[in-house]
Amino acid sequence: MSDDSKKVLYSGMQATGSLTLGNYLGALKNWVKMHEEYECFYGVMDLHSLTVRQDPVQFRANSRKLYALYVAAGLDPEINCVYFQSHVSSHAELAWILNCFTYMGELSRMTQFKDKAQKHNDNINAGLFTYPVLMAADILLYQAHLVPVGHDQMQHLEITRDIAERFNNIYGDVFVVPEAYIGKQGARVMSLSDPCSKMSKSDENVNATIYLTDDRDTIIRKFKRAVTDSDTEIRYDIDEKPGISNLIDIYSAVTGKSTDDVCMEFNGKGYGDFKLAVGEAVADELTPLQKRYEELLKDKKYIDECILRNDEKARYVSQKTLRKVRRKVGLLDIK
Ligand code: TYM
Repeated sequence: MSDDSKKVLYSGMQATGSLTLGNYLGALKNWVKMHEEYECFYGVMDLHSLTVRQDPVQFRANSRKLYALYVAAGLDPEINCVYFQSHVSSHAELAWILNCFTYMGELSRMTQFKDKAQKHNDNINAGLFTYPVLMAADILLYQAHLVPVGHDQMQHLEITRDIAERFNNIYGDVFVVPEAYIGKQGARVMSLSDPCSKMSKSDENVNATIYLTDDRDTIIRKFKRAVTDSDTEIRYDIDEKPGISNLIDIYSAVTGKSTDDVCMEFNGKGYGDFKLAVGEAVADELTPLQKRYEELLKDKKYIDECILRNDEKARYVSQKTLRKVRRKVGLLDIK
């Protein structure tokens, strides 16, 4: 049922709100070709989304939409195992066991927990605190070697490695210790209105974020308004010119050109021309994805069939690891 000759890759996204250009360039775009080298598993991380209060009707719809976006971006569910985290109970089961091998101290150091606790200070729930443990369970269940993520997830990858090594030190080689894969460009897409903070789904300023479902005019308008410095030179310098550097990064991630080549291409041109070019390049990149997404949304039957089939595979593969973990820690299984 699985291809033993290939190494395993695992990743996923939360099923909350619309995806951003950051999610796309930092993660999704890099996933599409990975199946050539890896056996790939991608989850719709709906359990993680529960750490923030969700409207149930909207949440259900968003979760299916995220699956459709994965497929529209080019993740073929015939080749990749694209499934729902909450449909595979081994995730929650392993997360509990791993909770017992994770320290309060290391979880309190997670910057994402600190950020989210500040943003949602009326709902600092235990799930928010143990979020990285569920993420570790996701990855370790599939014995993943590689985890492609954006830069903001590095700390979660490090704790995953620590938990895996701690467990292996006690019980022998149970888990593969995974490596993070960070793309050369696009791993840290910044807000268009404040280039010193990350582009995020939950930004209150709609001009700060490009959503994958934004139409062409909206995308171009948002890039035209992007905050830059008062200088005129198109030069890559994150400290001195964070706004322009972010746009260079985005253009480079979309076109595949190096940052040096981008600077040469726009040498002597003004910010206005450059912003327009970035907006057009992003819109061109997203148009086919959006068309396919609209088609897929009309084909609920196809999407649901893909989900059911891939859930089954994820269950089968993850159960193998869970059985081993249960045996190692001494939980009684009666055959
Ligand atoms: P989530 O949904 O917050 O983000 C999904 C992916 O998008 C990347 N990303 C960005 N990359 C570049 N620039 C940005 N502005 C930007 N914003 C988001 C994230 O780094 C991520 O790769 N905890 C994960 C979901 C998850 C997961 C896992 C990932 C749950 N279990 C197991 C990998 C393996 C998350 O918060 O994703």
